[in-house]
This record gives sequence, C-alpha cells and structure tokens, in this order.
Amino acid sequence: MPAAAAAMTARYGAGAEPKAGPWNETLAVLMSHRSVRGFRTDAPPEGTLETLVAAAQSAATSSNLQTWSVVAVDRPEVRKEIAAIAGNQKHIEVCPIFLVFLADTSRNGRLAQEAGVELAGLPYLESFLVSSIDAALAAQNTVVAAESLGLANVYIGAVRNDVTRVAELLGLPPGAAPVFGLCIGYPLPGREGEVKPRLPQDAILHRETYDAADSGHRAAYDPRMEEFSRRQEMAGSTWSQRVIARLGTFKALHGREKLKEKIIGLGFPLR
Ligand SMILES: Cc1cc2nc3c(=O)[nH]c(=O)nc-3n(C[C@H](O)[C@H](O)[C@H](O)COP(=O)(O)O)c2cc1C
Repeated sequence: MPAAAAAMTARYGAGAEPKAGPWNETLAVLMSHRSVRGFRTDAPPEGTLETLVAAAQSAATSSNLQTWSVVAVDRPEVRKEIAAIAGNQKHIEVCPIFLVFLADTSRNGRLAQEAGVELAGLPYLESFLVSSIDAALAAQNTVVAAESLGLANVYIGAVRNDVTRVAELLGLPPGAAPVFGLCIGYPLPGREGEVKPRLPQDAILHRETYDAADSGHRAAYDPRMEEFSRRQEMAGSTWSQRVIARLGTFKALHGREKLKEKIIGLGFPLR
C-alpha cells in the first residue's frame, strides 16, 4: 500500500479513509503523531532544546506580539511536585525535556511600563485568548519538530489542575500563566504507541454550512475506538462513553473548575 493510503488507514480506520491527495515527508510526520507516556531518560543531542524552541518561535503569532514563553524545568523536586499536581503522571519526572508553555503578556506589560504608557487593550479576555493561542501554536510546532527528529512527546494539560502553584514553582511574574506542559524524549521500547483513530472526516469538515447530523459518524467511530482501547489495554469504552466520562462530572475537572479565578489571580483581568 502506498505511504499516503497507509497513513490514511491508520488515522481513520479501514473503510473510512478520505480521498488521498498530495503526499510528502512533512505529511508523513504529521499523520503518524501519537502521544507517548513512557520515556527513556537519556538526553537528546546538545542543541535539541534550542532547535525545538527555534521551531516554536517560527510559528505564526498574533500581530507579532509574541505573547507566549516557555519554561524548561529540570529540577527533580519541581518536576515531582508538578507530576503530583498533574495526577501523578510519572513521565513528567522521567522525560529528559519537560517544558511548560505560558500565555505571557507580562513582557509587553514591562515594555509599556518602561515606556511610561498604559496598555488599555491589555486587561481583556482577548489578551488571554491571544496569548493562549500563541502558546498552543508554538507548542504544536515543537511537537512536530520533535517528532521529525524521532523524539516522542505528550502534552500535559493537567498542569492546569493548579495553575497558581505551578506559577509559584516557576517564579512567574503577573501576566504569565501556565497553559500546558510538554514531555519530550525518546520512547521506551514497546511504548511507542499506536496512531489513535480520529472521527470520520465528514464529522469535522463541513462544506459551506455546518451539518449537525453527526450521530452516524459517531456510530462508525465508537467501535473503532473501543477496539483501539482494548488493544492499548485500557478499559474498552467507546469514544461517546469517554466524552461523557470526561465532561459529565464535576470531579473530572480536578480543580480546573476554579481556573477562571486562578487566571485572574495570575494577572489576567479577563474583562
Ligand atoms: C492541550 C492538551 C493537553 C493534554 N494533556 C494530557 C495530559 O495531561 N496527560 C496525558 O496523558 N495526555 C494529555 N494529552 C494527550 C491527549 O490525551 C491525546 O493527544 C489524545 O488522547 C489523542 O491521542 P494522540 O495524541 O496519541 O493522537 C493532552 C493533549 C492536549 C492537546
């Protein structure tokens, strides 16, 4: 099977592949993404972190404001506490590179302070959204760059379980907030993971107007995800069941129900 068709089958499942089109090495890297949660401890070659951050800084950034930053965390005691905050995700302690991406308007705030001006446009929800989007785009460039070098990774949204404590641990100034972490390293043998199937493309790609009739797409996807979960030795639940479990209870927020107040406390007024 040609590489493009094989990648489509892995991503959507046999029989659910969209039409194949152009193909290259970049697409091969993008489409073979999988999150990895078991890392070797050996460090990647020197200059890897700097190369990854250069790739991250190459992402588009709203109005070139560059309202994001990243903290590379090495100290074992800090990694340990962040791992505990994140529901005991051990890979945070083990991976050779652990990054925390920040929504960061503090640099522009300092610029204004030095210039003796007030940034009337800063205290709005828009600034938090712009800086979180900037951080996400930069992080995804990091992920793709790492995967192109044979390095595996997993995002850690669970740092948002307690952004106040993570901000304290990282010495963040007002106007900077953790958005997510990212573990990077070589995968342990046998822990490379498998490409996780996604919803049928017709559930996501709408043409001209939005089509909400997606229960058929879900019905096709549910057994595919159930089978995937069984293969990964996880509880064999369908995607629909997982969505309900993740969003259906207050408990599953793990403290993030207080996120708004905590983000305001970190210096984003969210007006
Ligand atoms: C912003 C963000 C936060 C995430 N946080 C976590 C996390 O805290 N722990 C974890 O194990 N996976 C985390 N993930 C990984 C997702 O669970 C994973 O991307 C999803 O299940 C799809 O699997 P795949 O990446 O292997 O395709 C996160 C992903 C994103 C995009």
